[in-house]
Formats: sequence, C-alpha cells, structure tokens
Amino acid sequence: MLFPDILSHLENVPHMPPERGKLVYDFVREQKPRHILELGFAHGTSACYMAAALEENGGGHITTIDSVVAKSRTPDISSLLERTGLGAYVEPVYAARSYTWELMKLLDQHTKNGCTDPQYDFLFIDGGHTWDSDGFSFLLADRLLRPGGWVLFDDVLWTPSESAGEDWVEALPPEEREVAHVEKIFNLLVVPHPSYDSFEFDGTWAWARKKPDAAVSAGDRSNVVSAIYARSSSERRKFLLRRYVKRLLRV
Ligand SMILES: C[S@@+](CC[C@H](N)C(=O)[O-])C[C@H]1O[C@@H](n2cnc3c(N)ncnc32)[C@H](O)[C@@H]1O
Repeated sequence: MLFPDILSHLENVPHMPPERGKLVYDFVREQKPRHILELGFAHGTSACYMAAALEENGGGHITTIDSVVAKSRTPDISSLLERTGLGAYVEPVYAARSYTWELMKLLDQHTKNGCTDPQYDFLFIDGGHTWDSDGFSFLLADRLLRPGGWVLFDDVLWTPSESAGEDWVEALPPEEREVAHVEKIFNLLVVPHPSYDSFEFDGTWAWARKKPDAAVSAGDRSNVVSAIYARSSSERRKFLLRRYVKRLLRV
C-alpha cells in the first residue's frame, strides 16, 4: 500500500504521528526487512505503517506484542487491521502481563540444543520505556535479531516524570523519575555492545544495526546440554520427589 493511502487511515489514530509513520515506512521500503518484531503496539498505528510498506515490498510478517489491555483500546489493532486490509501481515500477541514473558516463549521456541536461531530483521521497541522492562527486552530480543538487522527505540528522551500522577510513576524513587530510561538503555546496553554499529539518534528515535558478521550462537551445544543433564539428573529427580512429597503432605 502506498504511503498516502495508509496515511488516510491512520492520521487521526494515536500514537505514531504521520511524520514518524513516514520515516518507518521508508525504512521498511529501503531496508526490506522480512520479519519484524515490535514491542508495544497500542492501537496498532506503527504496525500498520510497517505492514503497508511490507505489502509494497511484496511480503513480510510482523509479530507485535502488547498487554492484553490493548484489546480495550478504540480503535483496537484488530479493527485497524481490518479497516486497512493489512491483517495478513501482522500477528498481534497479547501478553497477560508483559512482553518480557512472551520473549521468553519466543526464545524457547527458537532455541534447540542450547543454540538460538534468530528470526527477525527489524526490532522496534516502543513499550514501557523503563530500564527494567525495555533494557531486559533489548537483551532478550537481541538473541532473536539476525546479523545485519536493525533495532529502533522510540521516546529516547522521555522520563517517567512526564507521566507524574500515574501510580507506577509515583511508586518510583525520585531519581528514577527524572532519568530518560531509554537513553540509558541505548547508551549503556546498545552502544557498548560488541555486536552493534551504525548508531543514529535524531532526538526522538535511536537506531543501531547488528553487525552483519555478528556471532549469533556458540554453535550446536547438544553435547554440553546433555552433559549438564546427565550430571544433574539424579539431583533433579531427588528435588522433584521432595517437592512432590511436600505437596502431598500439605493437602
Ligand atoms: C507508546 S505505546 C505504543 C505505540 C505504538 N508503537 C505506535 O507507535 O502506534 C506503548 C505500548 O506499550 C505497551 N506496554 C508497555 N509496557 C509493556 C509490557 N511490559 N508488556 C506489554 N506491553 C507493554 C502499552 O500497553 C502501550 O500500549
């Protein structure tokens, strides 16, 4: 779908403004990622801009994760995908609590014999914007990002104090309210990371590329994994038995 056509569906839908929509649309058109992972879809606006570009590229797929509360947004992502006709490109995943847990499931799905097979060419992190959730999410999703793929962070300079009054912000120690968490993630976890280069920051968004020759795994570790289990299997059996007996005695 051409940009003016997708824009006509999205210009009044939060959160991604049209000028940012154009940037991410052009990025997908130029870099041609096939598989995209997005953390935080809200109404689905950014996902639709990216899906429109995928359609124009001739194909691709977006896995996008938000909390289950996103179902109650108006419009919600399903109705936006229906309205735009882009549903074939986007798979929304609803986390019962957090995308960090959904990332565990993705890692589990794509890890065999101690070796993770990376799946994505582009990772867009636009969720909670906190050190704990998004710092951890970057480290998890990095394992699923292919060499040569890109990571993009939104709201780099945002601080929790901008949402003062919300319960979760009031529960933070004062020093954590005044810090731009995503900026810390970018400066402390991404820039020093040996697998990344091509850093860019435009005042709102920060980009980095995973080096095309970045190592993705330590190779097949089936021998290591079976050795660990062989060494520990009798201890594990004893532990499970003790737990089983404790539970029996409790009822
Ligand atoms: C700024 S909005 C996303 C906007 C969207 N990317 C766009 O540009 O249209 C952030 C979203 O992240 C979600 N979110 C924040 N922390 C989350 C977490 N730990 N797990 C799942 N979703 C989370 C929120 O529910 C919210 O819908």
